Amino acid sequence: MSMLSVFKGLAIGLGTWNMGERASAAQPEVAAIRHALERGVRLIDTAEMYADGGAERRVGEALKAYGANRRDELCIVTKVLPQNASRTGTIPACEASLRRLGLDHVDIYLLHWEGRVPYEQTLEAFAELRERGLIRHWGVSNFDLPQLEQWCATEQRLGLSGCATNQVYYSLLARGPEFDLLPAMTAKGMPLMAYTPLGSGELAEDEQLAAIGRPLGLTAAQLALAWVVRSGAVVAIPKSSTPARIDENFAAAQVVLPPEVRAQIDALYPPPKRKQSLQMV
Ligand SMILES: NC(=O)c1ccc[n+]([C@@H]2O[C@H](COP(=O)([O-])OP(=O)(O)OC[C@H]3O[C@@H](n4cnc5c(N)ncnc54)[C@H](OP(=O)(O)O)[C@@H]3O)[C@@H](O)[C@H]2O)c1
Repeated sequence: MSMLSVFKGLAIGLGTWNMGERASAAQPEVAAIRHALERGVRLIDTAEMYADGGAERRVGEALKAYGANRRDELCIVTKVLPQNASRTGTIPACEASLRRLGLDHVDIYLLHWEGRVPYEQTLEAFAELRERGLIRHWGVSNFDLPQLEQWCATEQRLGLSGCATNQVYYSLLARGPEFDLLPAMTAKGMPLMAYTPLGSGELAEDEQLAAIGRPLGLTAAQLALAWVVRSGAVVAIPKSSTPARIDENFAAAQVVLPPEVRAQIDALYPPPKRKQSLQMV
């Protein structure tokens, strides 16, 4: 089975950070998410934090138009804020996310980053949510390897299993996870969700990447995305509210980079030689 099966098998999804901030952008943002769904994007990433629930509402609007009968084709991911992630706080936070999304469950529910709540409490709440069918899977975000190991050990101690993923900043501008986190996750069979895979858009403007991609008929953004997902153990969630860019980004899921192209990319953005602390955006 593919390591990406929990994400419906596709290596490129859609991020939604910065959506839902402005009422005037509601129509184009909802249209962009619908466009993505209609073009075959199966994974949508959002969070209760984004625009204070506004991004989840945009996703909810787009999903309404997409059709409830096609819900099982999709992987909808949202996140609980650390300050809400207590045994009792997580449940209403998830229920509020579901109301904004207009869904009866999310596919993966992530702890957005580590806060002060002990892992046990968050995990007990996640287990209750899974038991009640409000979430299918849980996971974490912004966890470096020692945190992830401690989280998994806590799961084991509680007799639970199921950390589906760890969502971290991973791009050509942030290759640190390749040193230890990504290999360790891959060994556990746990896929990595790469956030900010375009370096907030910077990599799409990279002239040197564009020059490498040109002979292959690829844009700089496509090269950056195809590179992030090259191992088959990583899914990337570029954000765009622009339909043409959504198409461009999604097409990168089909690209296999030849070894000589990977070598050219490594020369531009070298792999890490030692442990780097995990970067956060
Ligand atoms: N877990 C976490 O802590 C965390 C942190 C950060 C991000 N995330 C998630 O990861 C997602 C992606 O990260 P991100 O939004 O920070 O950054 P990103 O996806 O690396 O870049 C998004 C920016 O790039 C532009 N862009 C997208 N495709 C493009 C293309 N083909 N050509 C040129 N420009 C392009 C977008 O503009 P337009 O929209 O105007 O097209 C937007 O300004 C977020 O939306 C969020 O869902 C999670």
